[in-house]
Amino acid sequence: MVKEGDCIALIGFMGAGKSAVGELLAEELGMEFVDLDGVIAREAGMSIDTIFTREGEDGFRRRERDALTEQLASGGMVLSCGGGVVTREENVEMLRRRCRVFLLDISESTAMERLRGSSGRPLLSDEGLETAVPRLMRERARLYRRAAHEIVDANEVSTRELAKEIAARWRKSESRRRGEGTRST
Ligand code: S3P
Repeated sequence: MVKEGDCIALIGFMGAGKSAVGELLAEELGMEFVDLDGVIAREAGMSIDTIFTREGEDGFRRRERDALTEQLASGGMVLSCGGGVVTREENVEMLRRRCRVFLLDISESTAMERLRGSSGRPLLSDEGLETAVPRLMRERARLYRRAAHEIVDANEVSTRELAKEIAARWRKSESRRRGEGTRST
């Protein structure tokens, strides 16, 4: 059976709060924090926006997969992923194999509210918020749920509360995992 590693991955739609929550969560658990989009931009020497402009979504997804593979080679981290990481099956397999995957779940109206006026998100600026958000949410709803080990309601909670809830759930799943390990040896 494939075992989860000692990473926590945060997934969810744009605006769910993955980076802000991830940072607090890593602090709370004394783990390293990695923002996958940050890694991609740093390694490319370009912003996410520029990568989309120059290389298209396919180019970005290739970079995203490579960055994910590279990051997951080591453990002990909280990894915040970009909203579209679940659109590639191989990413989902990697995440589920190496991490406990938490979905920060938000509604369409929360996403709209939080993303209005935001910049640097090429998938929204090309098509416009009102069209892109419902479409992408519809396309991805099932993918998010399939990828997640746990789902956390991220609509009306502060980032601190969310980080605390995920930390509590993580500790519980870790102690369960350790208990199972002890029994089988
Ligand atoms: C994307 C989400 C973005 C970024 C890129 C594509 C998506 O990350 O990875 O613009 O496909 O949903 P955030 O979810 O952090 O905004």
